[in-house]
Amino acid sequence: MAAIFNRILSKPKPTSKISTYIQHMSNVPENTVYGGPKPQNPDQRVTLTTLRKKHKQGEAITMVTAYDYPSAVHLDSAGIDIALVGDSASMVVHGHDTTLPIGLEEMLVHCRAVARGAKRPMLVGDLAFGTYESSSQQAVDTAVRVLKEGGMDAIKLEGGAPSRISAAKHIVEAGIAVMGHVGLTPQAISVLGGFRPQGRNVLSAVKVVETALALQEAGCFSVVLECVPPPVAAAATSVLQIPTIGIGAGPFCSGQVLVYHDLLGMMQHPHHAKVTPKFCKQFAQIGEEINKALSDYKQEVENRSFPGVAYSPYKISPAEVDGFLKELQKMGLDKAAAAVAEAADNVEASKKI
Ligand code: KIV
Repeated sequence: MAAIFNRILSKPKPTSKISTYIQHMSNVPENTVYGGPKPQNPDQRVTLTTLRKKHKQGEAITMVTAYDYPSAVHLDSAGIDIALVGDSASMVVHGHDTTLPIGLEEMLVHCRAVARGAKRPMLVGDLAFGTYESSSQQAVDTAVRVLKEGGMDAIKLEGGAPSRISAAKHIVEAGIAVMGHVGLTPQAISVLGGFRPQGRNVLSAVKVVETALALQEAGCFSVVLECVPPPVAAAATSVLQIPTIGIGAGPFCSGQVLVYHDLLGMMQHPHHAKVTPKFCKQFAQIGEEINKALSDYKQEVENRSFPGVAYSPYKISPAEVDGFLKELQKMGLDKAAAAVAEAADNVEASKKI
């Protein structure tokens, strides 16, 4: 009896398409009580536990936005802690002037691509404008979709109005980790009067700190501080027990976030092409590299130096060329047969150079 039981246990489980799919989604628990204790693996998924530990030890948390499979793979190989599928996709990927037009379905496509590419970073998906403001119920429903259909581990929402705090609380109660976002909240440019820094007077600075505290109280695991003066970020970081992640908020935050395209120097989207954010350090000039590569390609195609023999890898023997040429002649396609002969001669001639 014990032998049969052991055999059943050791039998490899069939891997269905669904189980493979689920393994590649991110919100699969790792190292849980059900999995039993596992040795620490540097490649294992970053979880809230990892972030709490880093925060407690005073280690800076790194977050970068990602929108597709390649950007997610890059973040993963660089060891970035959190991949944020930001609604900035609306601007940097879709070319809109603001983050307002992007919808849930588009965000889900970005989320799924990132979930396939980033195996180690914690995955946070932004709730798109218009998909969570009406009621806490709507916010929970949208957050559930971001996890179930987008494969994210957590969601981020903007703002700190009482209805937003209540939405955050309900989402956490539904079992979903929430990241808050205060200061400049780009989804609220209509009431903020544009992309304006916040916390620059006493009232506004106090509001930033109070809102961050209210989000912590609602159960958020972290808060993004966007475009606030460093002393305001320092106050929020000091009063909060959860980590602050700054963008344009100076050095006194528990971690930092930048938009992928901004940090790589791909400033093609309408807003940043005009005004590069003052806080954004470009760690590379990938935009210039792309422009150069494309114009070199155009030039080489136009002057016919590409693809040349070096990039025409598929061969046909002289005997097959001869047979092919004769077939074409039989079919009455003399012009095509002449083209074959000329091309074959050219290939042979360029081999001798
Ligand atoms: O959408 C986004 O990119 C963001 C970051 C600026 C934090 O929310």
